[in-house]
Amino acid sequence: MPVTKSKTKKLRIVSVASEVAPYSKTGGLADVAKSLPKALSEKGHHVWAVTPYYKFIKDQNLDLKPIPFKATVTVSKKKFTIKYCALQYSENFTIFFVANGPLFTDRSKVYGYPNDNLRFLVFNIAVLKLLEGIKLRPDIIHCHDWQTGLIPNILAKQRKRYPTLKKTATLFTIHNLTFQMAGNWWAVDPRRADSGRSDPTLKTLPRIKKLNFTKRAIFFADVISTVSERYAEEITTPELGQRLDRYLRQRKEDLYGIINGIDYAIYNPEFDKYIPHHYSTASIARKKKNKLALQKKVKLLERPDVPMIGVVNRLTEQKGFRLIMETIDVLMRMPLQMVIVGSGFKEYIAFFKKVAKKHPKRLGIYTPFTEEMASLVYAGSDMFLMPSRFEPCGLSQLISLRYGSIPIVHETGGLSDTVTNFSPRSKKGNGFVFKHYTSTDFLIAVARALENYKYSDSWEQLTARAMDQTYSWELPASKYIQLYTLAQKKKKQRKS
Ligand code: GLC
Repeated sequence: MPVTKSKTKKLRIVSVASEVAPYSKTGGLADVAKSLPKALSEKGHHVWAVTPYYKFIKDQNLDLKPIPFKATVTVSKKKFTIKYCALQYSENFTIFFVANGPLFTDRSKVYGYPNDNLRFLVFNIAVLKLLEGIKLRPDIIHCHDWQTGLIPNILAKQRKRYPTLKKTATLFTIHNLTFQMAGNWWAVDPRRADSGRSDPTLKTLPRIKKLNFTKRAIFFADVISTVSERYAEEITTPELGQRLDRYLRQRKEDLYGIINGIDYAIYNPEFDKYIPHHYSTASIARKKKNKLALQKKVKLLERPDVPMIGVVNRLTEQKGFRLIMETIDVLMRMPLQMVIVGSGFKEYIAFFKKVAKKHPKRLGIYTPFTEEMASLVYAGSDMFLMPSRFEPCGLSQLISLRYGSIPIVHETGGLSDTVTNFSPRSKKGNGFVFKHYTSTDFLIAVARALENYKYSDSWEQLTARAMDQTYSWELPASKYIQLYTLAQKKKKQRKS
């Protein structure tokens, strides 16, 4: 999509997500659901984020104002009373929390309940009732991932109920197509799979359990987007289309990719409160001190010259841990140290704990995930390993670039859009990329990184270039504005 100067018209934007950092967070979605609205508001647009009010948010004792509006949502003959409260984040950025005891406010987890589909169906209706009830009249409702996927569907089926939203367009953003509904959607018998075109609010409980929120969003949203251009292509193929590729191909004209940014006010080695030695491109040598601090903390051999590989990610299959596990014996014979930080699959954690016991001076695993350890690894590592099997966008590699830790990645999704192969001759590229998801290709990329590390001047220049790259929200936020405007246009065209 070409980037033109943002128009002066200020938009009224509602952004809906099941998690918004720092109030609730299980993954990168929460970061985007916070930092994108913030960036949009900083550009002068009026933004309201809407998200459930979970128990742990209540426990944070935020400065919330109750909204003088209540709603009753009835589905499958069950009545749910919904209350709302608001957090004024800045002059033109408000966060609305949607409260209901049994569904959210008495719940200590974001997901993982047998009635998750019902919980989010009610949430979607509650969002629309709020917007109608307080007559917010947004230009656009931006829905993030499956938990919000019924909003475009309900709006299309129940126009009369929401007269003030008549002109409101919808954008649905796919953060990860693997997740389309609660539970294992692939376990649903294809003959009983949700056809996706009806009014979801009229369903009975057994049917609600089978609703495929994402499929419905793909049918009904004015525009669909995902979090990198490459992933936007990939999800139209059977390999990564998760049985929805056919529908995504049908909507190819309305499908866009916009790479995420990271919040530069948070991720900055010049003032990150968790790292002991602050640094910038002008003082890269100080980065080594963080490496020593990391080695000390994890009790590895304190050797500034040994290349340090960092891994900060959820320990899951998606993130490529299988490749690291398959090659760990070879890796442990290479001249390197490795520190892994993250929460995730128990078996994976147990595996790396065992290896760390065998090689205590070379490998450390730090679990569960903490921001503090994550920052120390970004700042203290020379290279950053992220061999995801697939990756819609990926935020960790953007943070690693910002901290001058050179990414080693699989050429997929957002990794492929943000990391390019370093060539020592042309001095182009910001990382090490491997094409095929095999242990051989993976090991070759690691070996190439280690080889290049030996040339310290060239490596330092590479580090400085990586740190200088801009992955703030500035550009993506402008692209979203264009997409919102386009969604409004498409909506109008379809009506006429
Ligand atoms: C999901 C994706 C990840 C992306 C994030 C934010 O977690 O797996 O690639 O960066 O959403 O969009």
